Amino acid sequence: MNNKVKKAVIPAAGLGTRFLPATKTIPKEMLPIVDKPSILYIVEECARAGIEDVILVAGRNKTAIEDFFDTSHEVESVLEAQGKIDLLEHICSIKNLVNIISIRQKFAHGLGHAIATAAPITGSEPFAVLLGDEIMISKDNQPSAIEELCRAFEDTHISTVATMEVPKEDVSKYGVIDCESIGVNKWSIKNVVEKPSPESAPSQFVLPGRYVFTASIMQELKTTRPGKNGEVQLTDGMTAVAKKEGLHAMTVQATRYDAGDKLGFLQANIELALKHPELKQPLTGYLKKLCETF
Ligand code: UTP
Repeated sequence: MNNKVKKAVIPAAGLGTRFLPATKTIPKEMLPIVDKPSILYIVEECARAGIEDVILVAGRNKTAIEDFFDTSHEVESVLEAQGKIDLLEHICSIKNLVNIISIRQKFAHGLGHAIATAAPITGSEPFAVLLGDEIMISKDNQPSAIEELCRAFEDTHISTVATMEVPKEDVSKYGVIDCESIGVNKWSIKNVVEKPSPESAPSQFVLPGRYVFTASIMQELKTTRPGKNGEVQLTDGMTAVAKKEGLHAMTVQATRYDAGDKLGFLQANIELALKHPELKQPLTGYLKKLCETF
């Protein structure tokens, strides 16, 4: 069995209703966090982990994402003519980060259905899944979130997903795991429940959108019937994998932002702008003044 994780699936075919009307014609994964679309942060996370092929599950109106990772002759020749060589090199480096393979999810039948759409490309190999609207930022000296999961998977050969603890009142926004501890910050998953009420949730450990799976998740998703909200739920496929061959959860070091949610998107923009060399000082001054006024 080949345990090196070389492929990643990024489902980006959702309707993005929480961001309407902005997402009526623009995919939410193309909304900028400071000066980069959120999808670029995710592809960079893949590249840092040694992932070579990124399978983009796109829906209608999503060609902007494919174009973003392609050559733009016009932009490149203008930058060259203007002598903006650093910017030109930066722009050109984006298309060489990974191989982008695009596949269509023809109907938004849910996250589980979107991932199963990539099965002909992932084949029998293990693969990573990164949600297109969850940004995970790690410090320069830290491994990226998906890298931590890939390394854990390569050690154990067991599907491994990221988890984080949230306040009880927030569990209904997430998939929640029923689990038992198997070590420091590591759990064995027994069951996964999609968006439970705080009263019925099996724990406060939720799934923030980073996963590494063996190929068997694809078999499960193919036969998973629509669940909550009439959608094929990844969480149902995960429960089946947990029962058949085991499923681990672990915390990761990176800071996570829910960029598919308006507040999370604004937080990501502010925090990352505060780390940006050009913006750090003027933005700090602006925010201090703003806080005095309000
Ligand atoms: P979300 O439920 O957060 O995304 O799905 P959404 O449906 O686009 O957003 P809202 O809730 O309407 O605002 C999590 C991820 O799964 C993808 C989404 O693109 C997102 O990255 N997804 C979801 C699909 O690719 N296909 C689907 O059918 C559903």
